[in-house]
Amino acid sequence: MPTLLKIDASPRGDYSVSRSFTALFSEEWTKNHSGGTVVERDLFKTELPFVDVPWLMGAYTPAEQHSEESKKAIAISNALVDELLAVDHIVLGTPMYNFSLPAVLKAYIDHIVRLGRTFTSSYEGLAKGKKLTIIIASGGVYTPGAQAESYNAESSYLKQIFGFIGITDVSIVLAGGTSAIDQGTKTKDVLVAEFKPAVVEAAK
Ligand SMILES: Cc1cc2nc3c(=O)[nH]c(=O)nc-3n(C[C@H](O)[C@H](O)[C@H](O)COP(=O)(O)O)c2cc1C
Repeated sequence: MPTLLKIDASPRGDYSVSRSFTALFSEEWTKNHSGGTVVERDLFKTELPFVDVPWLMGAYTPAEQHSEESKKAIAISNALVDELLAVDHIVLGTPMYNFSLPAVLKAYIDHIVRLGRTFTSSYEGLAKGKKLTIIIASGGVYTPGAQAESYNAESSYLKQIFGFIGITDVSIVLAGGTSAIDQGTKTKDVLVAEFKPAVVEAAK
């Protein structure tokens, strides 16, 4: 039975546009994959320490040499890698912050990009055979041809880093224009409806 990993990277709970889309995606995916399981990974409910010396010792030295501190530091990373490797499809909902990814998502990526676990020393990705759908919510619009298109450093980076670990079947939904909600010129429901067809299609 297929498994979906739903990753959320917005701190805004019910106000979050990206979370509305991952919820919609998850609902659609469940309809399309009867018997499938959804695993939720909320990055705001996950302890995601930055890479530090105990973590490095845990990642780059044999397990039998690990101090208690290193064992603890690398345990979080191991659990996140195990979780990722076990699924078939991933939906990642994220805001755009400063034209790139939010720090919490970068912290997650630093835990899952692991030598010997998700890539080899010859740069072969080990997390193969998975589909990834990335949904980026942004205040501005970065679709092809838009004036600000070239400012979007998030799509290319996420595609590159997930490709590096072997996840190359990637589709991206650019859910731009959320500033209209903050300005009161559009409701969240209206904006979500605009992007719904793209999200429903990706969940097939
Ligand atoms: C710290 C911060 C930085 C942001 N930077 C950008 C940006 O560079 N470009 C943009 O279009 N929107 C930017 N925004 C707006 C968010 O991308 C937008 O509010 C989006 O809907 C957030 O996702 P969420 O609704 O899932 O929380 C920024 C918002 C915050 C709080």
